[in-house]
Amino acid sequence: MNRGNSLGQHNRAPCTLGNMARIADVNITPSDNGPYLVSGAVCLADVDGHEVPHGEYMALCRCGGSKNKPFCDGMHAAVAFDGTLKK
Ligand code: FES
Repeated sequence: MNRGNSLGQHNRAPCTLGNMARIADVNITPSDNGPYLVSGAVCLADVDGHEVPHGEYMALCRCGGSKNKPFCDGMHAAVAFDGTLKK
């Protein structure tokens, strides 16, 4: 069954925190050559829309090497991830 729309997006159950938080209350900061550091009232969901439990603060992998995706497990250091954002 194709549950996606014309934009390739899936129809997902609404996030349980979606209406409780404003994006202004959420901080997402890329760390030097490491994960995105996220804080605030965020609902994290998998590709099927199921909520992924997490703490108040979380580090999300952006190197692709974590064995605990979507969370960072420190592998970015072992793979010498270059996440340079500065020009
Ligand atoms: S950013 Fe840390 S494991 Fe990927």
